[in-house]
Amino acid sequence: QTGLTALDYGFVNTASTKSAITYIDGAQGILRYRGYPIEQIAEHSTFLETAWLLIYGELPSASELADFDDKIRRHTLLHEDLKKFFGALPHDAHPMSVLSAGVSALSTYYQGDLTSKDPEDIELATIRLLAKLPVMAAYAHKKSIGQAFLYPDNSLSFVDNFLKLNFGNMAEQYVPNPAVSRALERLLMLHEDHEQNASTSTVRLVGSTDANLFASVSAGIQALSGPLHGGANEAVLTMLAEIRDSGEGVARYVERVKNKEAGVKLMGFGHRVYKNYDPRAKLVKESAHEVLAALGVKDELLDIAMELEQIALEDDYFKSRRLYPNVDFYTGVIYKAMGFPTHMFTVLFAIGRLPGWIAHWREMNQDPQTKIGRPQQLYTGAPARDFPQR
Ligand code: SDX
Repeated sequence: QTGLTALDYGFVNTASTKSAITYIDGAQGILRYRGYPIEQIAEHSTFLETAWLLIYGELPSASELADFDDKIRRHTLLHEDLKKFFGALPHDAHPMSVLSAGVSALSTYYQGDLTSKDPEDIELATIRLLAKLPVMAAYAHKKSIGQAFLYPDNSLSFVDNFLKLNFGNMAEQYVPNPAVSRALERLLMLHEDHEQNASTSTVRLVGSTDANLFASVSAGIQALSGPLHGGANEAVLTMLAEIRDSGEGVARYVERVKNKEAGVKLMGFGHRVYKNYDPRAKLVKESAHEVLAALGVKDELLDIAMELEQIALEDDYFKSRRLYPNVDFYTGVIYKAMGFPTHMFTVLFAIGRLPGWIAHWREMNQDPQTKIGRPQQLYTGAPARDFPQR
C-alpha cells in the first residue's frame, strides 16, 4: 500500500551471495566451471575429474584422480539394513522422493560424523555421497520395475557401474555400450553445477544453519524435483508425447502456449538467467543425435522436439520473451533411448548435480562470507493496528 518498491528501501538482492565455483553469462550464453568453458569440459573431462575440479578448485593430478576414483569405488556398498528401506516404499513412489528420503536415511548410519567439522569427516561424507547416491538411485529404479537389486561392481568405471546397477540383472552378464557410457558421462558433466539455481541455493540455505551435508543434499533433491527446475526434463517428454498423441501437430501446441492456456508451457524452454541459447542445450542436442544413431533408435519425439524448437526460435512470442531451449529440452530423449523410464530422468539430473551441491556446501562452510543465511524481507502487509475490544 506504500507505493514504495524494494529499491526505495535500499534493498538489493540480499539473497545474493559470492561464489568462486561457476560463472554464467546469461546474455552471452556462457557457462564456466572454475574458469573452464563447459564446451571444453564436455569434450575433454570426465564426471569424477570435473567433480574434483568443482569441489577443490583445480584439476586433479593423475594420482589425485586415481585415488579419488578408488575411494569412491570402495564406498559404493550400502549398509545391508539400508536396502530394506527401499522395500518399505510403494513400487510407484516417485524416485526423487525415494532418493531424498534415502539420503536422509543414509545419514543415520553415520551419526558420529554428521556434525563434525573435522576436514577428514567432511571428506568422508563427500566420498560416501558421491559413491552411494547413484546406487540408491539405481535401487529406486529397480524397485519401480520390480527387479532385484544388484551389488555394485567396483571393477567398472563410475558411469558403467551405475549403468550396470540399472540395466544389469541377475541372469545375464552386463556388457557396457561405449556410446551410452560416453553420452551419460557427458550429460552428467553438463549438470554438475550451475551457480545459484534453486536446488543449490536450497543446499546452501539449509547448510547455512550448520545442518549436515546429507540433510542439505536431501533438501536440494526435493527442490530439484519441481517441474520448473530439474523436473522439467521429465515434463518435456510428457509434453512431446502429448503432442504426438494429440494428433494436433506441433504448430497447434505452440498456439496453445501463446494463448497461455492453463498449464500449457513450452517445457524445456526459458531460463531465469539464460536469455540466449543455454550452452548445455547445444551440447545435449549433439549427443541426442549421436546416441540415437549409435543405438539405431529412431524416436519421433526427437523429431517433434526439433520441429518445436525450429518454430519457437522463429516466433516473435518466444523471441520477444527471450525463450530458448534449456538443458532439459533434449536430455529426456537421450535418457529414454538409453532405457531409463521417464520418472528416472530427474534422478539423473540429481546424480549430475551432486558435485555442485557438495562444492557449494563446502565453500559456504569454509567462507562464512558466502553464507546466504536469512534473506531479508520487504514487509507489504497491514500497518500496525490495535486488536478489537471484546
Ligand atoms: C533448470 O536456475 C538454473 O540454473 C536452473 C537450471 C540448472 O541447471 O540448475 O538451469 C535447470 O531448472 C532449467 C529450467 C527448466 N524449467 C523449464 O524448462 C520449465 C519451463 N520454463 C519456465 O517455467 C520458465 O522459463 C522458467 C521458470 C525456467 C524461467 O522463468 P523466467 O525467466 O522467470 O520467466 P518468467 O516466468 O518471468 O516469464 C517471462 C515470460 C512470461 O510471459 P509474459 O507474462 O511476459 O507474457 O515468458 C513466459 C512467461 O509466461 N514464459 C514461458 C515459458 N517460460 C517463460 N512461456 C511459455 N513456455 C515457457 N517455458
